Amino acid sequence: MKKILVTGSNGQIGVELVPYLRKIYGSGNVVATARKKVPGPVSEGGPFEILDVRDGNAVGALLDREKTDSVINLAGVLSARGESDPQTAWDTNMNGLYITLEAARPRGCALFFPSSIAAFGPNTPPKNTPQDTIQRPSTMYGVTKVAGELLCDYYHLKYGMDTRGLRFPGLISYEALPGGGTTDYAVHIYYDAASRGKYTSYIARGSFMDMMYMPDALDAVVRLMEADPSKLIHRSAFNISAMSFDPEGIAESIKKVIPNFELSYDVDPVRQAIADSWPDSLDCSAAREEWGFAPKYDLDAMTRDMLDRVMYAADMQR
Ligand code: SER
Repeated sequence: MKKILVTGSNGQIGVELVPYLRKIYGSGNVVATARKKVPGPVSEGGPFEILDVRDGNAVGALLDREKTDSVINLAGVLSARGESDPQTAWDTNMNGLYITLEAARPRGCALFFPSSIAAFGPNTPPKNTPQDTIQRPSTMYGVTKVAGELLCDYYHLKYGMDTRGLRFPGLISYEALPGGGTTDYAVHIYYDAASRGKYTSYIARGSFMDMMYMPDALDAVVRLMEADPSKLIHRSAFNISAMSFDPEGIAESIKKVIPNFELSYDVDPVRQAIADSWPDSLDCSAAREEWGFAPKYDLDAMTRDMLDRVMYAADMQR
């Protein structure tokens, strides 16, 4: 990658990926875009443009003007929000992807697609979920992720376009809160642990999901996009995960830092049903073998870093 356009830059991944890419590739070579301009490093640390990914002419004009060679397509609606408004989830996730692919294709741009553990469903083998397996998701978000994986594969097969993608697990980070996801509890728990010493989980005890700390996710995006294409067999949908835990597991990890931390439950049936339909733990061997996936943070290392950062930020606000 040399000149990169990022869509959906104000989201949980974008706010960290944009500055990360700017450090590696140079500030002027990473054009951040989003539907709204928000003050901060994304809009102020380098080029920024207002962009709606459903406007193909605007996407094409920007790719021409910036002479972009790679698009990181992050604009999207997450799982729980997608269930309250499936039509908007389809429109943003699917039409946005299709229009961006169509703009990128004639211009020879590579495209990164963020798939998800949501691309699996209730009849997927839940433990050590294989790279290639049954994908019949029961959420609109999941439908858009499977369809997106297939569409990206199709553009590679049909047009030779350089499409690549990752099935992200729940991502935990401190720069921006996630919005409308099912795995969000694993972010909120750290904020409540730091501020109140307790947390009420909307996900039930015993519900295991794959997770990863944001620095490992950023590293994975760059490693995949820079990987030798001749080594890539799977292209737009690599299983990746750094850990799998349930609410009790993350609470135990927090108690090593905050011994009096208390966890209680008030389960949300909508998000619980989504969690129940997703795998417990993914097999990530294809990602390791094809492009050297190597996450650094396990649960306790992530907990120590998250609590340090969240507590520091809270102290600064006092
Ligand atoms: N973190 C996402 C969600 O919970 C999964 O990709 O919706």
